[in-house]
Amino acid sequence: MTWSVAFIDLVLRFARTAADIDGEALEESLRCKTPLYLNFGLDRSFDPANPIWQEFLAGYERAFEPTGWTHSFYLVHARSYPESAFGCFSYHYEPETRCMRLHFGNRDSCTDGPLSVRRQQNRSDELRTLFSSVRLDLPEAEFVRGRSWMYNLPAYRRLFPPDYVTTADPVAPELQFMSLWGQFIDRNGNLRPKATDIFRKHMDTASTPDELRDSFPLPVLATHCSIQYFFDFYGVDPRT
Ligand SMILES: CC(C)(COP(=O)(O)OP(=O)(O)OC[C@H]1O[C@@H](n2cnc3c(N)ncnc32)[C@H](O)[C@@H]1OP(=O)(O)O)[C@@H](O)C(=O)NCCC(=O)NCCS
Repeated sequence: MTWSVAFIDLVLRFARTAADIDGEALEESLRCKTPLYLNFGLDRSFDPANPIWQEFLAGYERAFEPTGWTHSFYLVHARSYPESAFGCFSYHYEPETRCMRLHFGNRDSCTDGPLSVRRQQNRSDELRTLFSSVRLDLPEAEFVRGRSWMYNLPAYRRLFPPDYVTTADPVAPELQFMSLWGQFIDRNGNLRPKATDIFRKHMDTASTPDELRDSFPLPVLATHCSIQYFFDFYGVDPRT
């Protein structure tokens, strides 16, 4: 799935508003308060001196049409398929906490919604394969952690062990991640009108940093539980 120009426009509008309200340089807002940096294929260091990031900023400043420039830059640099991807799901492992972090990105080519009842079995199969692989490759993994607006959706929650989803708890918006921004796009990368309208209205009337952060309609929910619940839920055989 590729982001639409309209989504990039929304993100840039937020960055400009944040720069005004928080009283900081636009380049800081672009780097720290939008999902652009990571989605230009860069790492979680968010290093302002990264040459690709610097190339983006230089082009942005010169651009006659900053939204068009940003979208073109994204198309060139976006990672098409994450490492450790199992269909729509992927993960990364945090060795210091022995924790797996789960991620979702729509890579389903079917016209049905990726979270629809018709595709539910496909999603569950992907998770089963993912956890079978983790059991073999990362026997030291002990916990699973998630952070996403998506845990607000019953269609997403039903894919996971109940003991995992009941831990869902709101956390402060993480502005650099799609775990927050993903709520504004549909499965094709186009804007979801209802969520976007609410966001724009709140953003346009916000006058303090807190009000601006409260503009997002759905909160990011954090989840956490033992990986054993996942092995049990998906019937991952200890010997596979
Ligand atoms: C999740 C995603 C596929 C939903 O897109 P979609 O086109 O609505 O897909 P589906 O039709 O399968 O949606 C499933 C359900 O969620 C609902 N939904 C999706 N986005 C919603 C939102 N922002 N607010 C409320 N409900 C929403 C849909 O209405 C649908 O509900 P229904 O089955 O009762 O009609 C899309 O938002 C996406 O790909 N986002 C980016 C991924 C992301 O956020 N990744 C970060 C996770 S760490």
